[in-house]
Amino acid sequence: MRHLITIDDLSDVEIQNLFYVTRSLKSGETEYYSRVLNDSSYLRNKILANLFYEPSTRTSSSFAAAMHRLGGNVISINDVNYSSVAKGENLQDTIRTMGYYSDIIVLRSQNEGDAKLAAEVSEVPIINAGDGKGEHPTQTLLDLYTIQEKFKTIENLTVTFVGDVVNGRTVHSLSKALKRCNLNYCETYDIDKLPPSDVYYLTRVQRERGSKGSYELTRDHVAEMPDNCIVMHPFPRNEEIPQWFDSDPRASYFRQMENGLYIRMGILVSYK
Ligand code: CP
Repeated sequence: MRHLITIDDLSDVEIQNLFYVTRSLKSGETEYYSRVLNDSSYLRNKILANLFYEPSTRTSSSFAAAMHRLGGNVISINDVNYSSVAKGENLQDTIRTMGYYSDIIVLRSQNEGDAKLAAEVSEVPIINAGDGKGEHPTQTLLDLYTIQEKFKTIENLTVTFVGDVVNGRTVHSLSKALKRCNLNYCETYDIDKLPPSDVYYLTRVQRERGSKGSYELTRDHVAEMPDNCIVMHPFPRNEEIPQWFDSDPRASYFRQMENGLYIRMGILVSYK
């Protein structure tokens, strides 16, 4: 049994192995793909529990879709207010309970450290799907994969983070990973002074965690960005990226969402 609580739970080699599997699943071209997906019952009789204490569209749905595509089943508690949590049940008891009914638990919680706490009592692997402002390692894997897909490498690139770097868990996990990957990363507090970069990683202001303020990408900002860069965002977005930018070839956030499915399939395959 192996938990995925922080991006540091995976070595560089394991991340590249996962990317190989992900590429195979996405392209459908390799012998690996034939073995896994041509057998649509690869994870038959396996059950994934989605346990979400905070709202989610992409993470919960892509894990569910990944499990279904691999022939497994899903138990979804996508709003704990309709579970015994509403009657005061603590995290540990909920995790122990779900461990009897499933083979793996995908957990999103409000508090940093909850995923680690859950792993300490769990009889099945815990995948951290975001713990407060802590980490979001599977988002980081799909982010790194999207970068590598574009540039064929994750080395010697410059990544600029824009937005709520204090409360954004996707930024925390990704910056941790980038430190290991020989990438340069910049932080800017002035949207009008974006440095030339390969990747601009924008995040929304986390109002639910008390952050204030707002910013918005303008036509002047994007005119200054290199032609070959990519603009990423974990989503959901608010006002920071206007919809007129969606058709720009540098907009890569929808590709991130698509890659999220294949990365999560790759993760689940590794648990068989
Ligand atoms: N990026 C991300 O975690 O999106 P959701 O909150 O919709 O899962």
